[in-house]
Amino acid sequence: MILRPVRDSASDARTVREIAKAAFDALEEQLGRTGPVPEPTPAAVAASEARTRHLAATDPGGCWIAEEAGEAVGTALALRREGLWGLSLFCVRPDAQGKGVGRMLLDHAAAYGRGCLRGMIVASPDPRAARRYHAAGFQLHPTMQFTGTVDLLALPEPGGIPVHLGDASHQQLLDSVDRRVRGGGHGPDHAQLLRIGDELLVVDTLAGSGYCYRREGRIVLLAATSKRLAARLLTEALGRVPVGTEATVANVTGEQEWAVDVCLAGGLSAANRGYLALRGLRPPTPYLPSGAYL
Ligand SMILES: CC(C)(COP(=O)(O)OP(=O)(O)OC[C@H]1O[C@@H](n2cnc3c(N)ncnc32)[C@H](O)[C@@H]1OP(=O)(O)O)[C@@H](O)C(=O)NCCC(=O)NCCS
Repeated sequence: MILRPVRDSASDARTVREIAKAAFDALEEQLGRTGPVPEPTPAAVAASEARTRHLAATDPGGCWIAEEAGEAVGTALALRREGLWGLSLFCVRPDAQGKGVGRMLLDHAAAYGRGCLRGMIVASPDPRAARRYHAAGFQLHPTMQFTGTVDLLALPEPGGIPVHLGDASHQQLLDSVDRRVRGGGHGPDHAQLLRIGDELLVVDTLAGSGYCYRREGRIVLLAATSKRLAARLLTEALGRVPVGTEATVANVTGEQEWAVDVCLAGGLSAANRGYLALRGLRPPTPYLPSGAYL
């Protein structure tokens, strides 16, 4: 087996997406899912491939593909942002799992984070992943996922806090909030999330600031300087989910009680799902990390 860097190319982006689809579909089956996993929407396919190309360009030392007999069997995509190392994707094709491919990939991706005091991974419920991350020195914080149809009438009242649409001109504000909440800005990932077409909501008042990205029904990333502002942003974002689209609020640790309040008020259902794996920091709050950009 060899490891090679991921290239910023359409063909590597497709290869990475196909490995991820095979690995995560098989995981759903192992977790007891009956019936087929729904096909990803065109927006989800585009976002997945755009992520790979973006990280291959910004973090070439952190993005690896494992090949066996000339065939790609696994991948790991890692990023570094202002002293924070993050793992964006880690998967191995089902027929190659359990043979040490994941260990090798994670070792390479983790070596890219040498010198970073903080690390973050949005971990799936896969027990093999939990084992790998724990062995790499990460603490596992169980997370909840909320899904369902939003009950618009039951969502909390806005309470006079103005929320407006954001764009690339807000980059400095967004990075400042990131630094306060998780110790490092997202830097180029903000422009990337906007390029993908995610809707950006911003709050900027004398009492504090915050932002939230939404893609279709999914709350992608949310950070704020107070729980009150975070709750306001989440409420607004859920209220903007198109009618008939299932809403998903994921990666919610026990520290994000403000998010639990909003999700349950809005009629979403709670379930346990995966972990937030952290090294060198406590769960940031108020914060809902993005799996891909953390
Ligand atoms: C997680 C994943 C990338 C690991 O890759 P892999 O090649 O299977 O990993 P490895 O073979 O290097 O290591 C697996 C470890 O889990 C252990 N393991 C295997 N089955 C297990 C199980 N059912 N429960 C707990 N541990 C298990 C293995 O013994 C090994 O640990 P060890 O090296 O300490 O003995 C891969 O299994 C995968 O793609 N899973 C689905 C996608 C996913 O959830 N990715 C993680 C996203 S955060």
